[in-house]
Amino acid sequence: MKALTLKALEALRLLDPARSLYGQFKANGLTPWSPLVPEGAFLECALSSIALLRERGHKFGDYLEFGVSRGTSMALMAKALSDFQLSAVRLIGFDSFEGMAKDAYLEGWRPGDFRSTQRATLAYLASHGVAEHRLRLVKGWFNETLTEETRGSLGLQKASLIMIDCDAHTPSRLALTFACRSLVDEAVIFFDDWGWTEADQIAGQKEAFASFLGENPHLRAIELASYRPEAKVFHVINTSI
Ligand SMILES: C[S@@+](CC[C@H](N)C(=O)[O-])C[C@H]1O[C@@H](n2cnc3c(N)ncnc32)[C@H](O)[C@@H]1O
Repeated sequence: MKALTLKALEALRLLDPARSLYGQFKANGLTPWSPLVPEGAFLECALSSIALLRERGHKFGDYLEFGVSRGTSMALMAKALSDFQLSAVRLIGFDSFEGMAKDAYLEGWRPGDFRSTQRATLAYLASHGVAEHRLRLVKGWFNETLTEETRGSLGLQKASLIMIDCDAHTPSRLALTFACRSLVDEAVIFFDDWGWTEADQIAGQKEAFASFLGENPHLRAIELASYRPEAKVFHVINTSI
């Protein structure tokens, strides 16, 4: 039935407009949305990362998330932090809220994918019990938003948990560079898209992290258990302090 409908739309040259309309509906939260991280496994991983930092006597700074989309991982991290009575930790999310960038196809990703409007994301987070006062959402393309001005306006000093979920190599590298100054003593960094484009020999998060560590030899990364095969999680320690 679905194939027939698509064929008919194509014959009537209505397939592209129909797809675009469906995309708008989806971005605005008017159609079903599938979680973009495995919920149970991500929550477990978030809890064990927080427990690790707690055991080390860590003083918690912010949660930074690069690639928020509808907010699955943001809501789960909020829950994990609340479970540890760490609801005062700020949840700071950066996203275009336009989906993947126009040039993302050069790095193996489809422009516009995962688009959620900021409004739909806020509604989703509210429906998952995330109080708005815990949240800061920064809308825009990373090459424009990940600046010292943004750092200042957010009063960003220290990050303890960092989620790099913007999929492609270039935004992931920008995110790491921006997060670096907030890596005061130690943090757990989650990469959701490790090696996705490796089979096509396209650089991705793996290469972004390797070049980041190469540029920052004072950082030591210890791999932790992950929440799915395509993700990697590292405990990163600043050895210069
Ligand atoms: C896979 S989704 C994030 C999923 C999210 N963490 C979750 O659990 O639902 C990737 C997100 O990265 C964002 N993104 C990718 N490249 C970007 C860039 N250059 N600037 C801003 N946002 C970007 C996209 O808009 C998209 O929402």
